[in-house]
Amino acid sequence: MEIRNASFVISNTDVAKCPGDGLPEYAFIGRSNVGKSSLINMLTNRKGLAMTSSMPGKTQLINHFIINDEWYLVDLPGYGYAQRGKVGRENIRRIIDGYILNRHEMTCLFVLIDCRHEPQKIDLEFLEWLGENGIPFCIVFTKADKLGPVRFRENVEAYKKRLLEDWEELPPVFCTSAEKKQGKTELLDYIESVNNSLGGH
Ligand code: GTP
Ligand code: MG
Repeated sequence: MEIRNASFVISNTDVAKCPGDGLPEYAFIGRSNVGKSSLINMLTNRKGLAMTSSMPGKTQLINHFIINDEWYLVDLPGYGYAQRGKVGRENIRRIIDGYILNRHEMTCLFVLIDCRHEPQKIDLEFLEWLGENGIPFCIVFTKADKLGPVRFRENVEAYKKRLLEDWEELPPVFCTSAEKKQGKTELLDYIESVNNSLGGH
């Protein structure tokens, strides 16, 4: 799928104030600094569309971007940023959870995992919580350019193996690098196929 146009629509903390036109949306979640905002910029080919930072905790709101006038990409705040303190972390979790549990337009949630690390408790618990709440998700490994191809493949295989300890089957898995524009076609084709399966809007 080709992205002809992409623009920012609205930011807020309240799911009730998200766009009300009923268009399908695809949201990006994961730990702070995992590369959610960078991935949105890479997919849309717009460098400053979503704000990024080398410091964790940059995105603090639910951000809607309209794509081709037909669907939304949604950039969410990251979870688990220690420096934010307990109250700050709980506030962010409230925003994230409120969105995920109540936003019917959310067609698929992409959970981003930094390919450099072995499976982290915070991510595995988050996935478990999604399962308990019946939320469909995909896994997106990020920052593939930071590892050599062999190491990258080993880490992805180890992660899949860990997931199969908790899950009967694997969700769709994507391998990406915002830096090298890797995984763009695969992700956009997946979104297109889901959009088509919805019967068009
Ligand atoms: P929060 O909004 O704080 O939750 O972070 P985020 O998940 O949106 O991360 P963001 O996109 O702001 O990226 C965090 C840092 O990782 C930035 O310094 C990015 O340049 C860097 N980064 C993101 N994706 C990649 C990638 O694919 N490769 C490399 N090398 N760096 C990346
Ligand atoms: Mg961000």
